[in-house]
Amino acid sequence: MKIDSPEKLAQWQKECQKKQEQYKKKVIICFGPGCLACGCRDVYDRFEKELDELNVRDFSLEAVKKTGCHGLCEKGPLVVIEPEGIFYTKVKPAHVRDIIEKTLQKGELVEKLLYTDPKTEKKIEDYKEIPFYKKQMRLALRNLGHIDPDSIEDYVATGGYSAVAKVLTEMTPQEVIDEVKLSHIRGRGGGGFPAGRKWETCRKVESDTHYVICNGDEGDPGAFMDRSIMEGDPHAVLEGMIVCAYAVGAKDAYIYVREEYPLAVMHLYQAIEDAGKHGLLGDNIMGTDFSLNIHISRGGGAFVCGESSALMKSVAGDVGEPRAKYIHSVVKGLWDEPTVLNNVETFANIPLIINEGGEWFKNIGTEKSTGTKAFSLVGKVENTGLIEVPMGTSLREIIYDIGGGIKDDRAFKAVQTGGPSGGCLPADMLDQPVDFDSLTKAGSMMGSGGMIVMDDRTCMVDVAKYFLKFLVDESCGKDVPCREGLYQLWQLAVKVTEGNASEHDLEMMEHLSEYIITGSLCGLGKSGPNPFLSTVRYFRDEYLAHIKDKECPAGVCRELITYEINDKCTGCLACIKPCPVDAITGEKKKLHVIDQELCTRCGACYAICQFDAIDIK
Ligand SMILES: Cc1cc2nc3c(=O)[nH]c(=O)nc-3n(C[C@H](O)[C@H](O)[C@H](O)COP(=O)(O)O)c2cc1C
Ligand code: SF4
Ligand code: SF4
Ligand code: SF4
Ligand code: FES
Repeated sequence: MKIDSPEKLAQWQKECQKKQEQYKKKVIICFGPGCLACGCRDVYDRFEKELDELNVRDFSLEAVKKTGCHGLCEKGPLVVIEPEGIFYTKVKPAHVRDIIEKTLQKGELVEKLLYTDPKTEKKIEDYKEIPFYKKQMRLALRNLGHIDPDSIEDYVATGGYSAVAKVLTEMTPQEVIDEVKLSHIRGRGGGGFPAGRKWETCRKVESDTHYVICNGDEGDPGAFMDRSIMEGDPHAVLEGMIVCAYAVGAKDAYIYVREEYPLAVMHLYQAIEDAGKHGLLGDNIMGTDFSLNIHISRGGGAFVCGESSALMKSVAGDVGEPRAKYIHSVVKGLWDEPTVLNNVETFANIPLIINEGGEWFKNIGTEKSTGTKAFSLVGKVENTGLIEVPMGTSLREIIYDIGGGIKDDRAFKAVQTGGPSGGCLPADMLDQPVDFDSLTKAGSMMGSGGMIVMDDRTCMVDVAKYFLKFLVDESCGKDVPCREGLYQLWQLAVKVTEGNASEHDLEMMEHLSEYIITGSLCGLGKSGPNPFLSTVRYFRDEYLAHIKDKECPAGVCRELITYEINDKCTGCLACIKPCPVDAITGEKKKLHVIDQELCTRCGACYAICQFDAIDIK
């Protein structure tokens, strides 16, 4: 059906909603990256097979729905039975028959698959009651875990494309910009620049051609928010881009997405094709004189290509190298034309701002950081997954209430936000509100939303070393302060972890950082020393322990530790085989011994011992 008027869209929305309502029950299977890795495909196939074999398709025509990430990836594969919201975790194909026979046919619960609250040990039936979900506010992630990303009808049933209808028929481009400005939404890709101001500047540049680009590069290790949105709700991104293109007067728009996200690429292509077929993209959208084509540009995975000017070069087919900032890409961007570049999550928020109003959005979050922010919560936290909270929520609420605290009851040590060039915040910053300005003030940054939680077994010098190495590898090499400076900074961090550094080296690292920040051309170099600066600011004692005492307090840095077997050793023999250098000797049921001359401190024995019989000293 071609949608050539807002009335036709409204009628289609009603038809799609009616279609949804006829299903008595829906089996929703999460097909997000975490659940895919845990085998949700097999669960899905088993549902299809068993539903046919048991001939119980009558209770619902479209019983099994694949969705994007539901959030609680730690407990995947997840199966949710709607409308009740019954939440089954760690589902295996072998559980499928039970779910069909008990829950779908008799309305009973499969107790063993329900989520157990680790604090109360109680089983929770409805996922909305699980603490992980309770404190969240899912705006950008609103449809993830609920709709089939490959079905435009699913998106339309949620009121999808109403924002496009509204702007094209009821608002002038300037009114759209004013609404976005009123919302005070700041870009979710890292810099936090106000989106409305960016759009306005671009619109005002006189040119026959304007472009809109969506940044789906997401190069931060451990981050998967943008990926999940593109995979789980691609039409929301398209809708946000169409609104923006109308506001700035663009006829062509690009989504820059990394090649390593094949599912996101597939779903985006499908969404573009479906939107085009229904008259929501292409010529004369919804019967108006506004036309837009959205193209996909696939990136090769270089972190620096997420930077605006490098990204635009990459889209244009050139080498993805940043350029000097005095040329603003909003004025002279893709092919030297005025260009708006926004992040995936920024665009996913736009339809809500148009439908609910900028005033509504402005009242969520804090005064200077409005709305919500999605994070991929990973590391040593109980509930790893995809979350979204109002800006201003504290780190403690995120890590303890939503994340369920630190794994294995270990002590919290630090949380890293802001991607590789972000910073690590210690325990006494846990009550820090999460918003653009507070994080920057604390020496970290919002970044695009990666959040890595670390426990007391983490060495902060080692963490800094890891991120510095990442940045050294990803620096494009165009300028000396970043290319050589970051390399030297990394080498000095290596020296600290090996116990060969002096206090003078530490001072040198601090001076070098200033030089890199001042002299680098783009954000990669300018924020490159952050992993060092934030760790030395909050964990200076740990640096000094490596330098002065030649000790790694967390027991991580190989050159500074020894593995020793204590008298808890049961002589189980389990550690002998994994040792790559035959450094462990001992007989069955007798205390084993490590030959320190041979030991390479690989940690394999420590990882395998079940009796807590190996000490790291
Ligand atoms: C080295 C580097 C990498 C970046 N990577 C990304 C990225 O992966 N995704 C993103 O949206 N922004 C990234 N940015 C920020 C972009 O340059 C740009 O500010 C952002 O995409 C603008 O969108 P926003 O205003 O909606 O945040 C990166 C910046 C730098 C310096
Ligand atoms: S700061 Fe680093 S990544 Fe950025 S342009 Fe210079 S060398 Fe390239
Ligand atoms: S695995 Fe542990 S308990 Fe078993 S022999 Fe080795 S040190 Fe002893
Ligand atoms: S740390 Fe590695 S090398 Fe050393 S004893 Fe254990 S397994 Fe062997
Ligand atoms: S991938 Fe299934 S919950 Fe995240």
